[in-house]
Amino acid sequence: MKGIILAGGKGTRLFPSTKIISKQLIPVYDKPMIYYPMSTLMEAEIKEILIISDNRNLNFYKELLGNGKELGLSLKYKVQKEPNGIAEAFLIGEEFIGKDNVALILGDNIFYGQELSKTLLEASKIKKGALIFGYWVANPQDYGVIEIDKNGEILSIEEKPQNPKSNYAIPGIYFYDNDVIELAKRLTPSKRGELEITDLHKEYLKKKQLKVKLLGRGVAWLDSGTHDNLLEASMFIKTIEKRQGLKIGCIEETAYKMGFISKKQLRKIANTLPQNSYSNYIKRIININ
Ligand code: G1P
Repeated sequence: MKGIILAGGKGTRLFPSTKIISKQLIPVYDKPMIYYPMSTLMEAEIKEILIISDNRNLNFYKELLGNGKELGLSLKYKVQKEPNGIAEAFLIGEEFIGKDNVALILGDNIFYGQELSKTLLEASKIKKGALIFGYWVANPQDYGVIEIDKNGEILSIEEKPQNPKSNYAIPGIYFYDNDVIELAKRLTPSKRGELEITDLHKEYLKKKQLKVKLLGRGVAWLDSGTHDNLLEASMFIKTIEKRQGLKIGCIEETAYKMGFISKKQLRKIANTLPQNSYSNYIKRIININ
């Protein structure tokens, strides 16, 4: 399975912080935001990843993450010329996806929790159709919303409804079979001029090939789309990291834990990083494992 990180968008809600850099480059506590979705894909054992951003920012991502080789990854980059919607990722990524299945994660979505890796690994084994998640939130109207019956069957799916039919928001990580490319090609822009991810999911639903898995209370799903969300996400990460002395979204650690790189390779990375708490952490990981 391949993975795509969509790090596009106008960043309007975070202006002026996003006047010159893309939202997903802004730090969440002690690392750039994109590190979190990147490590989430890695936890699903995904090594081939396409990063999509606008023309100006793509070079920053390349500088930040390179070709991924030293983390045992293969990173590719593609431009989204205009913020034409999330589902455009499959058109931009058509060649990259090839004949494979693909997972898409939004660059501002942060996931953390017990058993999450197991859930993601299972999701990545999908053979046919699409798999999305449902997560209970207090403000479903701000997200894609999914309505399900007692048996877990999907009744409806709506993008940012004024009167949500449930409290289950759809987090920004999705798993698809290869049909996603053809289905995305058939979409037409919504009223706000975007190819909507929710419209794509409606197509899968019509084919009876959309599955949903609920993420329980033990999982934290944070989005960092507003200044308040961003600060809250930073505080959350800081609280957990300080308490445990373990980092969230440390891509070097994830590469090692997932077996993408050896201890020797991790040590080499640690030695090339500037001396600070981040590289000290990686060195500590090497010594305790
Ligand atoms: C997007 C999707 C929405 C999803 C959300 C998750 O919203 O359109 O369905 O629930 O991401 O973060 P946006 O961030 O573009 O407002």
